[in-house]
Amino acid sequence: MIPSQLSRFSRLALLGAPTPLEKLERLSAWLGRDIYAKRDDLTPLALGGNKLRKLEYLAADAQAQGADCLVTAGAIQSNHVRQTAALAARLGLACFALLENPIATEHPAYLGNGNRLLLELFGAQVEVVDHLDTADEQLEALATRLRSAGKQPYIVPVGGSSPVGSLGYVRAGLELAEQIKALKVDFAALVLASGSAGTHAGLALALAEALPQLPVVGITVSRPTQAQAAKVDTLVQRTAALLGTDVPAAYRALLWGDYYGPRYGEPNAGTLAAIRLLASQEGLLLDPVYTGKAMAGLLDGVARQRFAEGPLLFLHTGGAPGLFAYPDIWSGQ
Ligand SMILES: Cc1ncc(COP(=O)(O)O)c(C=O)c1O
Repeated sequence: MIPSQLSRFSRLALLGAPTPLEKLERLSAWLGRDIYAKRDDLTPLALGGNKLRKLEYLAADAQAQGADCLVTAGAIQSNHVRQTAALAARLGLACFALLENPIATEHPAYLGNGNRLLLELFGAQVEVVDHLDTADEQLEALATRLRSAGKQPYIVPVGGSSPVGSLGYVRAGLELAEQIKALKVDFAALVLASGSAGTHAGLALALAEALPQLPVVGITVSRPTQAQAAKVDTLVQRTAALLGTDVPAAYRALLWGDYYGPRYGEPNAGTLAAIRLLASQEGLLLDPVYTGKAMAGLLDGVARQRFAEGPLLFLHTGGAPGLFAYPDIWSGQ
């Protein structure tokens, strides 16, 4: 049902082949538990990451509407804004971005290195705002200004997490289900970072139909469990409505809210330990805002037996450019 409904939507085919699904051999040996990674950090644009999947659908929508610029918002170190700006450059569109400083830091690396540095190279036009508490309205106001200057903006919401953007992760869920079936591994759970929720919602929706036995566990990166579950649920319902399907009976919003403290954009000791472990055991780069926290949740879940028996699958959503924005977190480690 979902695959045929999805095929009705236009997509810019930017990804090419499915991203790899691979076993993390040394980490598995170290943990005494088989861990695999789905490598969405390896998507082929501007240092990779999950957002290209959403942007395949969002940018197709923008082009269908005759847009000449993409307008979006996020943290100064947003991976989403970096990938949106890169895609705009690739498509010959302008990019305007509202950026906030969620950790109120004046550190020059946060303000100018990592993802923020790359925005300069992609030619994005950036406005720093005090906060993005009403991001949808703030984006609408920017789009209105651009329209009165004769432009044709297309709003990409924070994180690309509209129903249209979530289609990218519906497609990813179907891709992943095929890979899991070919691998013939019975995973105990899929673990991923859950933020603006489009990644989680799209995957959970597709996998509830394609692999209904597989729990999809979101590790929250910005809010407590209940608030994030409501966000994922709403987006699942809206994405299913856009597709014209029912939400499959097997769908559940599973969230763990124990690993995001002290707040969005600020790593904790578990985040740093997870980043170091994956770097030293696998040569694999996680990030301080999303995947470090998600992996910390996976590792703690193993230690505390929060998962059923069996191998675990981690969705690597990218984010490594953010490492260069936080050079001081390693001192004293
Ligand atoms: C590296 C990385 N992982 C995970 C996420 C979370 O994805 P979502 O916002 O779809 O929940 C993001 C979002 O910006 C991200 O940049």
